[in-house]
Amino acid sequence: MKGRILTGHRATGPRHLGHLFGTLEAWARLQEAYECFFLIADYHTLTTDYEHPQQLPHRVLEVLLDWLAAGIDPRRSTILLQSAVPEHAELALLLGMLVTVPRLERNPTYKELKEQLGLGERASLGLLAYPVLQAADILIYRADTVPVGEDQLPHIELTREIARRFNSLYGFTFPEPQALLSTTPRLPGTDGRTMHASYGNTIALSASPEEIRQAVASMVTDPARIHPTDPGHPEVCPVFAYHRALADAEAGLVEEACRRGEIGCVAHKRAVAERLVERLEPFRRIRAEMHGRHEVLWDILREGSQRARALAQETLSQVRTRMGLAESALPIAVRARAGTDLSGKVCC
Ligand code: TRP
Repeated sequence: MKGRILTGHRATGPRHLGHLFGTLEAWARLQEAYECFFLIADYHTLTTDYEHPQQLPHRVLEVLLDWLAAGIDPRRSTILLQSAVPEHAELALLLGMLVTVPRLERNPTYKELKEQLGLGERASLGLLAYPVLQAADILIYRADTVPVGEDQLPHIELTREIARRFNSLYGFTFPEPQALLSTTPRLPGTDGRTMHASYGNTIALSASPEEIRQAVASMVTDPARIHPTDPGHPEVCPVFAYHRALADAEAGLVEEACRRGEIGCVAHKRAVAERLVERLEPFRRIRAEMHGRHEVLWDILREGSQRARALAQETLSQVRTRMGLAESALPIAVRARAGTDLSGKVCC
């Protein structure tokens, strides 16, 4: 029996290089060994960004385009849109009964975001309950493995606590999922700081060749190196971090040449920029192919969400019964008839 993965991203728009090398390449490979569910978490997007509804469908599609170009394959895996499987929300409501408010207030991600966004007294219930919804995302498919970045570990820990609590109260229902951490080192931003969209130091996967060349040309390198013949220190140079991430067989040789002062930063940047232009070609191509054909993308989401929904309904029906909601089958049958319609989504 294959293990089952659920993981996902919030619908925050185009993905960047950090997503590709840290995450998407790994997800694409995991499809071979696991049954995979990839979630575009649009409900989660609304926990902080509920004031721009007209942008959300566009951001959903941008995420999907980059996933597809990275090799996430809707024929092998299930790609779903969270809001098209409203059972996630109902399960989150029910699991919320088993979590205390102080436990959620201690969640480091909540504390950080509240601080960062200066929310103070205006922090919403939705933001506080963010990890409960995430637990529902995972548990509703009884996933056993959740590939995530380190920042998500507190959410996986809470998911495990909720699963244990549910199982001990109502009988075994949910396996305790394990986090699967990426082994790829984090890619620095073009300015050498942590890569983050809000710092403007990322390179979008959909960037044009010119944008890629410009972004790489502007990158910081080894600050101790003034002349191209000075011996360099590849271990502190972000351009080498990108070069290694590209899995280029020549990266090691170039590193030696840099240490000996035989290749300058400008020449090295040019070489890495061309590799990146090549590597990112699928991301530009899919946008050209899908231009004006967004219904194809909504079809992929509709189909994946439908498949996911059948499973989600099974789990939720058990949960409702176990929690004593007597007429479990009735509301679900009503909803199943109504279906979920993605065709009303605004296209961008
Ligand atoms: N919180 C995750 C992030 O910000 C996104 C997410 C939502 C997720 N639901 C999930 C990740 C379930 C893994 C499993 O990246």
